[in-house]
Amino acid sequence: MRTVAITGAGSGIGAATAARLSADGHRVIGVDLRGAEIEADLGTPEGRDAAIGAVTEACGGVLDGLITCAGVAGLPGRPSSLLASVNYFGTVALLDGLRSVLAEGDRPSAVAISSNSTTTAPGYSLELVEACLAGDEAEARRVADEVAGESMIEYAATKLAVARWVRAQAVTPHWGGAGIRLNAIAPGMIATPMIDEGASDENLAKQLDMFKQTIAFGRAGDPAEIAALLAFLVGTESTFFCGSIIFCDGGTDALLRANDWPARWELG
Ligand SMILES: NC(=O)c1ccc[n+]([C@@H]2O[C@H](COP(=O)([O-])OP(=O)(O)OC[C@H]3O[C@@H](n4cnc5c(N)ncnc54)[C@H](O)[C@@H]3O)[C@@H](O)[C@H]2O)c1
Repeated sequence: MRTVAITGAGSGIGAATAARLSADGHRVIGVDLRGAEIEADLGTPEGRDAAIGAVTEACGGVLDGLITCAGVAGLPGRPSSLLASVNYFGTVALLDGLRSVLAEGDRPSAVAISSNSTTTAPGYSLELVEACLAGDEAEARRVADEVAGESMIEYAATKLAVARWVRAQAVTPHWGGAGIRLNAIAPGMIATPMIDEGASDENLAKQLDMFKQTIAFGRAGDPAEIAALLAFLVGTESTFFCGSIIFCDGGTDALLRANDWPARWELG
């Protein structure tokens, strides 16, 4: 039996993963705004600190896995700064803050949730990506609201920042060097309340319909399909993954960007 903390455990992918891991006999410590064992707002430094403390106490200082599902989508009228705070800072703070308890775990593994919007949603702000990665939340929030665009577009910026943070950190002595796996997944369109929320806006609903047409199977993914991938990554058989961003998107990225990856390495 493994002990795994999941943020965003109250809904969608996080809830499906909590159900899957519990059914597999593991101990799940759920974190969410509400409706979870630990209730905390990961959009604020105080909420993140409270969540880190509560998870550490709940797991007795020994954590085998951490999956950071908590996130918000872009919507008309929703500020991009909220996405920066929840999607990026809420993710990396939990990963950083729980790294020492993961170090005490058995074949520990952390998985962050990026998105295939990073490669398939054109035109988002690289300045916001860089502002997030610079680590100054107040400045990143300013860039998000004053320099970057609408949150529907900038969602992808926050998710690219997560992917880049994971790749940079995974190989350091703190993570890979300490035997802690750190990876991210990049789901495509998955049928969760987040997508239902987007579909309630007329324009976004049209974009989501177009996006669905890029999926080879002609349907959105099921949260259980992502839960199965996360169960593998947080388990004891995925022990050679380090710094990977694993796309699971029904073919959207392959359809839109067929020849862009793997990218040849140009030296000089
Ligand atoms: N559904 C998709 O198509 C899709 C695709 C790619 C990536 N993702 C990512 O997967 C993750 C899970 O998304 P989902 O589709 O299951 O969405 P969801 O809306 O069903 O679940 C997200 C959860 O995060 C929680 N959350 C939001 N803000 C929070 C905060 N400030 N503090 C604590 N918890 C908070 C919500 O309460 C909710 O339970 C997100 O990071 C999302 O960006 C989703």
